[in-house]
Amino acid sequence: MAIIIRRESVEPIYQQLARHFRTQIESGQLPPGERLPPTRDLARQLGVGRVSVVHAYAQLREEGLVVAWPGRGTFVAGQRSAVERENAPAWQLTHLWSAGLREMTRLAQQPGVIAFNGGAPPDEFLPVDALRQALNTVLSRDGAAAVTYEEPEGYQPLRQSVAGYVASLGIQCSADDVLITGGTQQALDLVVQTVLSAGDVLVTGNPTYLGILDVARVRRIVPVGVPVGPEGMRLDALESVLRERRPTLVYVTPTYHNPTGTVIPLHRRRQLLALAAQHGALVLEDAVYHELGYHSPPPPPPLKAIDADGVVIHTSGFSKILLPGTRIGYLIASGAVRERLVRLKEAADVCTPGLNQRAMQLYLASGALSGHLQRVRAELRTRCEAACAAAQRYFPQGTRWNEPGGGLYLWVRLPDGGPTAAELYATAIQHGVAYAVGTLFHTDGSGGRHIRLNFAAHPPERIAEGFKRLGAAWHAWQRAFAPAVRRAPIL
Ligand SMILES: Cc1ncc(COP(=O)(O)O)c(C=O)c1O
Repeated sequence: MAIIIRRESVEPIYQQLARHFRTQIESGQLPPGERLPPTRDLARQLGVGRVSVVHAYAQLREEGLVVAWPGRGTFVAGQRSAVERENAPAWQLTHLWSAGLREMTRLAQQPGVIAFNGGAPPDEFLPVDALRQALNTVLSRDGAAAVTYEEPEGYQPLRQSVAGYVASLGIQCSADDVLITGGTQQALDLVVQTVLSAGDVLVTGNPTYLGILDVARVRRIVPVGVPVGPEGMRLDALESVLRERRPTLVYVTPTYHNPTGTVIPLHRRRQLLALAAQHGALVLEDAVYHELGYHSPPPPPPLKAIDADGVVIHTSGFSKILLPGTRIGYLIASGAVRERLVRLKEAADVCTPGLNQRAMQLYLASGALSGHLQRVRAELRTRCEAACAAAQRYFPQGTRWNEPGGGLYLWVRLPDGGPTAAELYATAIQHGVAYAVGTLFHTDGSGGRHIRLNFAAHPPERIAEGFKRLGAAWHAWQRAFAPAVRRAPIL
């Protein structure tokens, strides 16, 4: 097995090892049930300390990618191997080490489970009637033109509307700078493909948006995480990474960051842009939550609005504020970068569906968005307050969270000495509640005791019930498993 360890790298050896195996597992090269090399053998073969290998395997376990059977070894998770089936003690079977993210999502969708794991706004926020009217109008007005191919850059009147809309946030651009994409997710992917090549570094917060890590994985980009503090990405750490790794792209969600909810204050936004310009890096700004603030003061302007050096590529979309399923996002870029982005967009999917674009344009032109946003913000505020009150009331002592000023999520740290988020998951499902596991959002497999709760997904009484179940699950886990875990630690 060819594992290349770079001793001079700032990335610790155990993380390099974990990354290697993660890629192998996710690409299917290491199938479920396959045994990883014994730690002692691998350490000897690579000439590294055994502790680095042990650490790497522990991290993969935290991520649910492998399972360890004491005395037998470490196996790729997934379908259980015969050895695992025969030897799994009951308490381990109830856990989801081998089930993976898809299984977690499937379990969260079971009837009766109050699911806080998703990233979508709730159904009742979606303006379905307005969409129906807009679609009907577009079809009567435009006929076949609405359902044939659209320009790859996007429907021109919608690009014009987006330019007008972002002007209200302080961003000056023309319709020619706007490119309509299949959601913000595609905008991020196109920018990564345009600016980076396989093996390059992408700087991002740690934790960060799961979807940017997905993009990095499939494009074979190395995500390098910069810790996120109460004021967003830590600039001292960013500066070190910029100096040592010389990246060309830094991904930031400056306002109501997913998952932490943090906002970068204005003076730090300026510092961040100055740092990027000084080190020759572009900044990929993701503004999907910018409009979802429910506490005063309102957030500072987007990075693109204060971008004196022209280093920012701005991306956003209408998923979080209007309709995720219409898949309409956009990015704002000009010059040579834009030309390449348009070519990649065309290669990816020819165009974003014209019918959706035209309906969205009509909705924006109707002026209904600001009233809709006011209602959404008021309801989000009510739900956020309900979530914080329920967390206070039901979560075990030692649980920590910060009340967010916007966005959809509560980012919670479970108490030390209790279960990790992955360990607790099966018990939580049995109690009828689901959350997103913190490790998913990290570049280095950390965050094992964090969970992300999309409180916006439910009205206040369901939030209270869901959090009550979660508190009960935590205590039930402690009663049932804590002694067993202490007796049989997995190294
Ligand atoms: C930070 C962030 N960026 C982008 C997206 C994807 O948005 P879209 O539905 O527009 O692709 C999400 C969705 O959760 C997100 O949280």
